[in-house]
Amino acid sequence: MTKLPYPTLPVPNRWDRRGLPGWTYHSPELFELERSELFLIHWQIVGHENDIPAPGDWLTFDMLGERALIMRGRDGIVRAFHNLCRHRGARVVDGAQGHCKGALVCPFHGWVYNLDGSLRGPSRPESFDDDMDRSEFGLKPIELQNFHGFLLIRFKPGPQPDLAELFAPYDADFAAYRADEILPASGWTGATELSVNWKSVRDVDNEGYHVAMAHPALQDLYGRTYRDLQLAGGLSISHGEFGDAPARRWSVKEYLKHHEPQDWLPPHLKNSWTYYGLFPNAVFAFTPESIQYYQEIPLDTGTTALTGRIYRRPDETRRMRIARYLAYRIDRETSEEDQQLSIWSNESMASDAFDAFHLSDLEYGVRCHHDGLREVLPVMALEEAPPEGRVGAENARLLEDKPK
Ligand code: FES
Ligand SMILES: [Fe+2]
Repeated sequence: MTKLPYPTLPVPNRWDRRGLPGWTYHSPELFELERSELFLIHWQIVGHENDIPAPGDWLTFDMLGERALIMRGRDGIVRAFHNLCRHRGARVVDGAQGHCKGALVCPFHGWVYNLDGSLRGPSRPESFDDDMDRSEFGLKPIELQNFHGFLLIRFKPGPQPDLAELFAPYDADFAAYRADEILPASGWTGATELSVNWKSVRDVDNEGYHVAMAHPALQDLYGRTYRDLQLAGGLSISHGEFGDAPARRWSVKEYLKHHEPQDWLPPHLKNSWTYYGLFPNAVFAFTPESIQYYQEIPLDTGTTALTGRIYRRPDETRRMRIARYLAYRIDRETSEEDQQLSIWSNESMASDAFDAFHLSDLEYGVRCHHDGLREVLPVMALEEAPPEGRVGAENARLLEDKPK
């Protein structure tokens, strides 16, 4: 197996193998805390700069009542704003992605914004005070950073560092993959709604112990070499190498047949599918011919949207396109299998008979994710659910007691 160049955390000899208590998967009050203390203040992937190559191109990202608009200005700079008209709060753009010529016109009363978010002017300006200061009514900015072309936003300041620091262990690989060059692959932007708490999706995705049993295609492709690695800072890397043995399944055989060795990739990425996790809810996934990211967007305690985007290489050959399609087929099959596992796992959280997880060393990633959650929301460590209405207060108390 290829030696991997990552600063990996070892799995301890003995560790608490229980997962989070069941109540954390269905408490409405905890869900509110997850919204404010987790999702709104941690980096969220919203797309890639090549999704919006021209001035006036935009995309949107909605999450938990907040809505973002990411737009390329006339000056070529990509900015993020709240998709919220400063007049009465209408969406200034509607839809997932689009283009506007020259200016944004709010569909409610027609206020006009420049592509840099500044207010050009209200409609019927004579109906406002003479001294209305337009500079006070620009679209509200949202923090946005770019990592090798990927655009991430954060609705509010939070505990994670800037992306260059946070993703330092990913930097060499993203540079090697030339992630800044990738182009959106037409016809795919995932959005599936699943009736589970978002953590049940992540609990399944955070370990590869289940690959051998639950994912016959992945097992056939790279099961013999698959590794899950934990890194500091809520990062994780999963890595599986293929091609060391003949495949049995049609899609895998065809993938291996069409896979074209990409000589420009370093040895550890040449024949591998590699997944780069981002706490708390997203993953970038690279194969030699395709790139995607996927993430869980919670809708309520028991509903989660599975979303993401898929990209291709700019110099894609016909064979690479076929390989990418076959990789997508394997992924789709895998995702359906995972969705069923998430449903069962989530159901168990409401069962009186459910005691706790008893995790294997191969599921240490689940534990690390839960540790990250407990760090932000220590109330999740309580085995017994606090009464609804007291969850926030308990959490505040535990945060206060935490050794600084
Ligand atoms: S809400 Fe946008 S113009 Fe009135
Ligand atoms: Fe899986």
